[in-house]
Amino acid sequence: MVQRSFGLFATIALAALALAPPAAAQREAAEAALAAPKVPLAIGVAWYPEQWPEARWATDLALMQKAGFNTVRLAEFAWSRMEPSEGAFDFVWLDRAIAAAHAAGMQVVLGTPTAAPPAWMSQLYPDILRVDENGTRAEHGGRRHFSFASARYRGFATRIAREMARRYGRDARVIGWQIDNEVGPPSFDAEAQVLWHAFLKQRYGTIDTLNRRWTTQYWSQHYDNFEQVPLRAGGQHNPGLLLDFKHFTTATWTDYVQAQARAIRAVADPRQWVTTNTMFWNAGFDHYAMHRDLDLASWDNYIPDGRPDWLANGANHDLVRGYKQRNFWLMETQPGRVDWVPVNRALDRGQTREMAWQAIGHGADAVLYWQWRSALNGQEQYHGAMLGPDGTPFPIYDEIAQVARDAAAAAPALAGTAPVGRIAMLFSYDSRWAIDLQRHHRDFDPVKQFTAWYRPLRSIAQGVAVLPVDADLARYPLVVAPSLHVVTQAQADRLAAYVRGGGHLVLGPRSGMKDDANALWPQRQPGPLAELLGARVEQYYALDAAAPLTGSLGAGETAIWAETLVPEAKDVEILERYGPSNGWLDGKPAAVTRRVGKGRITYVGVWPDEAMLRGFAQRLLDAAGVAPVVPDAPPALEVMERAGNGRRALVLINHGATPLRPALPAGAVPVTGDLRDGVLPAHGVAVVALTPAQAGISNR
Ligand code: GAL
Repeated sequence: MVQRSFGLFATIALAALALAPPAAAQREAAEAALAAPKVPLAIGVAWYPEQWPEARWATDLALMQKAGFNTVRLAEFAWSRMEPSEGAFDFVWLDRAIAAAHAAGMQVVLGTPTAAPPAWMSQLYPDILRVDENGTRAEHGGRRHFSFASARYRGFATRIAREMARRYGRDARVIGWQIDNEVGPPSFDAEAQVLWHAFLKQRYGTIDTLNRRWTTQYWSQHYDNFEQVPLRAGGQHNPGLLLDFKHFTTATWTDYVQAQARAIRAVADPRQWVTTNTMFWNAGFDHYAMHRDLDLASWDNYIPDGRPDWLANGANHDLVRGYKQRNFWLMETQPGRVDWVPVNRALDRGQTREMAWQAIGHGADAVLYWQWRSALNGQEQYHGAMLGPDGTPFPIYDEIAQVARDAAAAAPALAGTAPVGRIAMLFSYDSRWAIDLQRHHRDFDPVKQFTAWYRPLRSIAQGVAVLPVDADLARYPLVVAPSLHVVTQAQADRLAAYVRGGGHLVLGPRSGMKDDANALWPQRQPGPLAELLGARVEQYYALDAAAPLTGSLGAGETAIWAETLVPEAKDVEILERYGPSNGWLDGKPAAVTRRVGKGRITYVGVWPDEAMLRGFAQRLLDAAGVAPVVPDAPPALEVMERAGNGRRALVLINHGATPLRPALPAGAVPVTGDLRDGVLPAHGVAVVALTPAQAGISNR
């Protein structure tokens, strides 16, 4: 497993910890604060008062109030304003901005500004600047140009965080902290190399262990000492090295964020939560590890091409909810369009509202737009905003104001509720990285493959928890791991216990092939789970044409990937076989299942076509006794259930362009939205309350 702090930064961490109140008590208090937020649904915007004359602020805030907002996020890029020269701090303007926001009824989230260091720092201390893999040092003028490994930068970053926390850490108007902004790009400078070597030493203890785990007898890669190991993210390097590079970036970024979190927590009221905002399917670090010591997950949901694919986007929300297995914040989303893809199409009328409700349905307790008004200059002049350069609303303002109105009406019904996950899916960063490093078939995209399974499972079950492999799975009757490529012995043991205890574990292709040093398991797939399965993968094949499948799951085909299975235990059932194809596959088992203890394990060695996967999902859910809350939901209808705190509610969205009539459970009471006489219009949303007695399902 990834280590959380190491070497140089461990010393810094320990010094900061000495000042902090006991972590457990602090976390408990923060959790209590989260359980009872001041406003159950925060709706608001990123506001950059530093970009505008102060005389304008009152007008901006009045327009936010008029839109029904209750939250603003401030200061995340304002470092040059807060520390105009080294060690000289100016918070007076921010005092006034917070006071003005509060007077307008807004709660405040403060961002630490460390994604945008000031020019004086780059000039005086060029060693803080990031170095890319080719050795080029970043220059000033953009953002994220710092090195995550620079001790000097870490010092500056924790100091500004501490100074802000000293000033606002006990301020009742400030509810929480966002650390940095979308951390991500690593650095390859000399300090990063020193940390890399310290990281490897901590992970492996001795160079002999590293040599063994990475099989460095291959191509004469044997290392005499840790200092010889190059710092590399890609290229023709050892798969063990490349996967450990990801572990290293995880550890370094986590430590970077935690250094600021510790600085804040050392002086702040535990009522204030601490988060960092992340990006969709970002592969830069393990997000479960990053969130272990944060209070809250938050993320930035953008639909770059303006064409929402609601199931794919829902998977992303569920992934984020899985980081802490708790509700999250949507820290940023677009008012209409972005400005960073080739065609920055705006969402259709009504879809910005749909996306807000989708976030809430999947567990967001906040929806914040980026941004309020486009700066007159700067890199993002073309991005969607709520106000134009003239300071008056764009057409999207009214749609977002409606989100705020609906949210206020729905808040009492949703307070203290969380999404109900009826089954679980496992998403593993190690597995994703290891496959991405060696796809073997260009189109074996682990996120696409995960989403292909998520689609039918989610649309039939109407509630999926996306979880790390180490999560407690006991409450889920069905756990699907579309591609658990990397699995440790300890994880395999836990999964085996889940199966023996009565769960159904379904493994997709390439599962159980590697260990956490990215080495092949010496057993055939699924490696440490092969004995439990009573079968093993004989061989895998990348396909350039689909291969036919027949069996009890129905007829269909597999594209991209095919594995032939060999049953070894007598009680293994063959679910599906290959039809005539390349000769190697013909007639061989493609999917097998076996009852073990009180449960079952199934291995599916293919990437089935959509119809087949849907049929299979239906069978798995039927067998698990999982039925949808709203039966026969048409493809455009998204049904999201939130329950808890004695409440149960459904969020419904018609993502399509024609009206629908959802078959609601008896006794459902519309709380807010567009449902009229049982009809949900095109792009309509609705929140309906159900009586808790209708639940019969726990708050998961
Ligand atoms: C986000 C970023 C924001 C803004 C936005 C534009 O990734 O956090 O600061 O740049 O993109 O879409």
